[in-house]
Amino acid sequence: MQRILIDTDPGVDDALAILLALLSPELQIEALTTVCGNVPVTQGTENLLRILEVLDLAEFPLIAQGEAQPLVKPLVTAAHVHGDDGLGNISQLRNADGRPVYPPADTHISPTSGVDLILEMVTRYPDELTLVALGPLTNVAKAIRKDPVKMQRLQKIVVMGGVFEDYGNVTTTAEFNIFVDPHAAQEVFQSNVPIDIAPLDATHQVVLTGERLHAELDGRSDSISRFLKDATHACMEFYRQHVGFWGFHIHDALPIGMLTHPEYFESVAADVQVETEGVLTNGVTVSDLRPERRSPHPNAQVCIKVAADAFLDHFFQRLQ
Ligand code: RIB
Ligand code: CA
Repeated sequence: MQRILIDTDPGVDDALAILLALLSPELQIEALTTVCGNVPVTQGTENLLRILEVLDLAEFPLIAQGEAQPLVKPLVTAAHVHGDDGLGNISQLRNADGRPVYPPADTHISPTSGVDLILEMVTRYPDELTLVALGPLTNVAKAIRKDPVKMQRLQKIVVMGGVFEDYGNVTTTAEFNIFVDPHAAQEVFQSNVPIDIAPLDATHQVVLTGERLHAELDGRSDSISRFLKDATHACMEFYRQHVGFWGFHIHDALPIGMLTHPEYFESVAADVQVETEGVLTNGVTVSDLRPERRSPHPNAQVCIKVAADAFLDHFFQRLQ
């Protein structure tokens, strides 16, 4: 069993990743921290509570709210992709009696900051804890700044972010999580903490079509199936209009799968740097992944190939 802390900017695909992690017996979620990204961090925290309410949890992981602004750049959000509330606008859904269909869980939010909860968890579980970063790396970078020695006791950081030999999803060349806070990403990648990266090169291989989602979920009335249909509707419509297919990429679910089923993923060692000064290239993750050009001083394992069908089948098996 692997102890993990999930740092997240929920976010529709974050929600799927969090549900998958909670339903993965291989993982013990010790804590969750929220960070600015898809939505402002206060909305992200409210969304996290909505996601946790979907499952009838006997007990909740520790939860703390993280940073509201990137290290240097002004915050850029993605409500146009994830819906105004960041979860497909499910916060507006009401039952016949007028009560919210998806109320936030009534559980304790730690008074400590997200950064301090990360450091507390590393202290409690030295050399045992994996940090799964599903949003911009602001919290992680600030934890490293605050106690770089302590953060070396992380087992590793698994990051959804970056793009190398594919197109970006924010600019032509940059992926959202890194683009939002490139300074944080550069500091994390140079921190000497072991890092696994699931870039768009990998997450674009796993396409959840609307047809597959409905084939799996139609006729099911359980809370997870209802949530998956309700929360993904807006995102899939965005993809239909702007990406060219009805469905979406379940980006953030891949780091969870990399922990529980590494056999579905192939990675290469790489030296990854992040452009923090460029105008057209801000947030670009730079690494030469050609076999003959790989760095003798790698700082990350970069996932380049996914057994996409097997992982999608696994995803639906776990969520049902
Ligand atoms: O580029 C995809 C990433 O950006 C995902 O983590 C998504 O949730 C957004 O945060
Ligand atoms: Ca995310």
